[in-house]
Amino acid sequence: MRYKTQRIAYLFFATVMLLLVLQVVYGFIMGFARIGYDVLHDYIPFNAARATHTNLLVVWLLTGFMGAAYYIIPEESQREIEWPRIAILQWASWVIVGVVAIIGFHFNWWEGRKFLEIPRPLDYLVVVNVLVFLANVGITLWKGKRITTTSMVFFFGLFCAALLYLPGMIYFENQTLDSYFRWWVVHLWVEGVWELIMGGILSYLLIKLTGIDREIVEKWLYVVVGLTFLSGILGTGHHYYWIGTPGYWLMIGGLFSALEPLAFLGMAMWALQMYRKKGREHPNKIAIYWTLGCALMSFVGAGLLGFAHTWPAVNKWTHGTLITAMHGHLAFWGAYGMLVLAIIAYSLPQMTGRKIWNNNTGYAAFWCSNIGMVSMTCALAVAGIAQVYLERKLGMDFLAVQKEVAVHFIGMLLGAALFTFGIALYIYQFIRHGLPNLEAMIPEDASNDYEFEARGAATHG
Ligand code: HEM
Ligand code: HEM
Ligand SMILES: [Fe+2]
Repeated sequence: MRYKTQRIAYLFFATVMLLLVLQVVYGFIMGFARIGYDVLHDYIPFNAARATHTNLLVVWLLTGFMGAAYYIIPEESQREIEWPRIAILQWASWVIVGVVAIIGFHFNWWEGRKFLEIPRPLDYLVVVNVLVFLANVGITLWKGKRITTTSMVFFFGLFCAALLYLPGMIYFENQTLDSYFRWWVVHLWVEGVWELIMGGILSYLLIKLTGIDREIVEKWLYVVVGLTFLSGILGTGHHYYWIGTPGYWLMIGGLFSALEPLAFLGMAMWALQMYRKKGREHPNKIAIYWTLGCALMSFVGAGLLGFAHTWPAVNKWTHGTLITAMHGHLAFWGAYGMLVLAIIAYSLPQMTGRKIWNNNTGYAAFWCSNIGMVSMTCALAVAGIAQVYLERKLGMDFLAVQKEVAVHFIGMLLGAALFTFGIALYIYQFIRHGLPNLEAMIPEDASNDYEFEARGAATHG
């Protein structure tokens, strides 16, 4: 840590840990409901659990991105955050809005639009909050000593994500129009501007962790941004096949979304190539695991499993089934979950001065959570294929089929248990690091980056 205000990120990262635990709890509530143990039904019906599960996910990822911005932007622009107190207020109000939304879901206060369930009055508060966040980070960047490609791409991603929240707030009487614009938020976030956020954070991590020149790392960033926009924008069409939009979307959506994996492939090749050519071995190996893991797993979850059902001829069978849930889990985990855990794994030792890295707990956290998530994905895939076959090929009744596939949720829950064990270890590591500590600051005039000086410290972890 080179700037005092970077430690604001800790507040956001600690919140991430808490929200992730809650998300997993709601996952289990649904998983057990799926195998017949819907004991909380009267208090937390499936729809409330589902909305809570997915919204907690989106909120913890956004919280992680905000923390990453407060950590990365000062270092990239070589100055402190412009308004540190306002940043803390922004964190507090963000948490309050999130908690109110989650409680509201349990009292049927929600909009019923998948992923955008947060009620309208709270939407306005989200907008104000995010504007304050963007102003704070933006002015820090603007007044900084340098504006890097990494920080620009990262900031542009955050800015566009905020902008794209607005189409989801327009009111339409018409269901097709409402769906049409809902995808501007949901799709253009995860397959558009969030990829810029991902590119920015990965770029920062690769520069730090491989010791390769910024110019070389950032050159690839242009390629990733280019591929993302080329495929992702018109790729939105893969959600317009069956909602009442004109037929040409079948062709446009099919073609462009089939190109989307290229952006994720680019990201994976970039990370691996940078790691292969690394100048020096970075002592924080576990952060390298999460960084490379994110680049690879996003290709599998988003790129490959997205491609698997994106073509209209396939999607007409799989649309809205557990195949979607299969892809949703690994894509969100690989691309954005692991990204947030990567920046936390890198920055936590920097903020606290405790180099608890490269120990068995850290590696076990990585492997258990990943193998657990892949197992969950496989169970959902089998359930999804069975569902498509029974329901859509054989024409069995929807609910009868749900009963048939319940057995696969036992497998999913076993995977989820392993995943949860990994997450518990990650959180244990997080807590062991303690609080941020100003003694961990690196003097501004230090010529060498601290990590490389600290090579010898690796063995203490
Ligand atoms: C990190 C990136 C991605 C994430 C987080 C993600 C996540 C999701 C989620 C959560 C859904 C369900 C949305 C809903 O029904 O409301 C979905 C749907 C879908 N995704 Fe992705 N996705 C990603 C990338 C991709 C890519 C690259 C492709 C194609 C190559 C793709 C293809 C699809 C398709 C076709 C659907 C519609 C499924 C259906 O018809 O039910 N996704 N995605
Ligand atoms: C222990 C952990 C978890 C369990 C047991 C679990 C279980 C579930 C279940 C049962 C559903 C509803 C599927 C349905 O429609 O029936 C669901 C939805 C979903 N979960 Fe999880 N989950 C867990 C963790 C996660 C994590 C860590 C992520 C992301 C990183 C995630 C992302 C999602 C998404 C995106 C959906 C919505 C999928 C869709 O649009 O169809 N879940 N989860
Ligand atoms: Fe999409």
